[in-house]
Amino acid sequence: WGWLESTAHAADFCPTEDHAVVPHDTPMKEGYLLAAHCMIYALDDSVVFNLYCRRAAVLMHMRFDGYLGFPGGLVDTGEEIIPALNRELHEEMNLDLTRFQVKHEDHVISHENAKNRVICHFYALCVSLAEFEEIERAALASKEHGHEVLGHIRVPLYVMGDGYRGFPTFLDNNFCGNARSQLLTSLKQRNILPESIINAALAATKKYVP
Ligand code: GTP
Ligand code: MN
Ligand code: MN
Ligand code: MN
Ligand code: MN
Ligand code: MN
Repeated sequence: WGWLESTAHAADFCPTEDHAVVPHDTPMKEGYLLAAHCMIYALDDSVVFNLYCRRAAVLMHMRFDGYLGFPGGLVDTGEEIIPALNRELHEEMNLDLTRFQVKHEDHVISHENAKNRVICHFYALCVSLAEFEEIERAALASKEHGHEVLGHIRVPLYVMGDGYRGFPTFLDNNFCGNARSQLLTSLKQRNILPESIINAALAATKKYVP
């Protein structure tokens, strides 16, 4: 057997500057791939370690390629974007589509990455904390668990006493595509974290230029 290499699996941290914001209804381009991913989250103002407000439970995952990303994937030929995203959420998270479905109004932002020739649509699905915990538990039984997805994780949104551990440390991980900027945009747009905290966390990161 040789190297696992396909266009869909090309190793790809792509800095934000490689991604231009485009409208949700941007027309499909010749030779381009279409991808759709989603941030599932629940607001949660409880305190952890008697010290830090959780603010929200936000789900990401460890991908097969070692990068962090969101559940979702490629829109296959002939598929519509939203049904493709819901299909991927079922494959990667065992999401019960009779109860939870991403809808058009959950859209957050879309990007075109001209280098990788992919248009990435991004959505955020807000659920209750009880529903979040249920979704998280069910995800271990997904078809892709142990294959495309190696683990479901929550994002630490607090900043610890040294100003680096917690959210800034998390942001220094390796992210697939522009998942890092999709996370930051969603946290701002959904008012999960105040912009001042996001900016302070970005200023504390060591690996990426804010
Ligand atoms: P296969 O079924 O094996 O093809 O994988 P998939 O359909 O689940 O596709 P995947 O989730 O790997 O996403 C396809 C492409 O979208 C990747 O190669 C990346 O370029 C990009 N991608 C993956 N995860 C993310 C993410 O969280 N955010 C963004 N912006 N892009 C991502
Ligand atoms: Mn312990
Ligand atoms: Mn998939
Ligand atoms: Mn995927
Ligand atoms: Mn797929
Ligand atoms: Mn697949």
